Amino acid sequence: MHNDIEKVIYSEEQIKERVAEIGKQISEDYKGKELVLVSILRGSFVFLSDLIRNISIPCEIDFLSASSYGDRVTSSGKVVVNSFLSSDPKGKHLLLVEDILDSGFTLSRIIPLTKALGCESVKVAALLDKPERRKANVDLDYRGFTVNDYFLVGYGLDYADKYRNLPYIGALDPKIYTK
Ligand code: IMP
Ligand code: MG
Repeated sequence: MHNDIEKVIYSEEQIKERVAEIGKQISEDYKGKELVLVSILRGSFVFLSDLIRNISIPCEIDFLSASSYGDRVTSSGKVVVNSFLSSDPKGKHLLLVEDILDSGFTLSRIIPLTKALGCESVKVAALLDKPERRKANVDLDYRGFTVNDYFLVGYGLDYADKYRNLPYIGALDPKIYTK
């Protein structure tokens, strides 16, 4: 385990199993539909790449980038959309893919922007959900795990852009962000 990690919350094996289940469910739910998975960068790119390999129906992918944290451990509440979709999803079924739903500010900003594009549907998949910290109401359609209020890193999640490469999800030692 990395020195800065207090404890492993989800192991590689646990994540793999849960992502496979979500992929299977999405494949059933979107059968015969034109599906576009939209990864909200940067945190969700690892989840997206494992998720699509567990989806057995045809699908497209696209990306958008949003940020609100900077080098902090709580959302500033000011969500900046850095870049938007590169193809027109009109008439298609959009599935937004997030690493973690925390305050809800990011998704509550992104969902109306994507709903305005004339998609058949807009739904949301998040690997992790921290309901205790919710400030803006967001409904999740697919949820990997419900977690307690730790600051989590690994499997795409970062603190100050580090730790994304850890293959597990761990609680960051508070020493790292309180010093
Ligand atoms: P929200 O806007 O507060 O719901 O947070 C959404 C974004 O904040 C996520 O996509 C993450 O990038 C980031 N975030 C929230 N909680 C954590 C965490 O525990 N670790 C790392 N990033 C987090
Ligand atoms: Mg994110």
